[in-house]
Amino acid sequence: MMYDQLLAIKSYLYAILAALLLVLCCAIYIMATRAKPEQMAYCGNMSPLASNEKFSSGKELFLANCASCHNKNMRDNLTGPALGPSMQAWAKYPTKDLYDYIRNSQAMTQKRHPRALEIWKQYQPTIMPAFQSLTDEDIKALLDYIKR
Ligand code: HEC
Repeated sequence: MMYDQLLAIKSYLYAILAALLLVLCCAIYIMATRAKPEQMAYCGNMSPLASNEKFSSGKELFLANCASCHNKNMRDNLTGPALGPSMQAWAKYPTKDLYDYIRNSQAMTQKRHPRALEIWKQYQPTIMPAFQSLTDEDIKALLDYIKR
């Protein structure tokens, strides 16, 4: 009689254990399959996320807007120049110049900004598109990512 009761308790405990494991597996599955920020879709020039992490948002901005032309290793040229050395070239000028350039490079070339002209001469007729919708924070995050 005692033994039967023990057996009953034992199988009861196993049942609870199995149920807990099932819940745990479900939780892990849900967490693993939940969309990660970089998998979310958004359109070209919009700031993709109000992310607190400036580094990851700079990376996301770069991958979404710049990586099609600028190598993400920042060292090799692609359609556009490698941006690592570019940062040094722009360091001679007020920071605002680079912000203006990223927002509208052609306007800076037309204003005959020395660096804009210099790089245009090397890469024309390929035009870098304007990124008017990038905020100061966006560009700051981008530059932090480029200079990382
Ligand atoms: C369609 C291709 C293309 C895209 C996209 C693009 N660029 Fe460019 N970028 C160029 C080209 C080409 C140049 C060289 C100048 C020119 O031809 O207008 C350039 C030049 C630059 C320069 C100046 C480099 C130097 O050495 O002076 C910077 C800085 C720059 N791009 C940053 C960016 C950033 C940041 C983004 C993303 C927000 C971006 N570019 C997106 C093609 C692109």
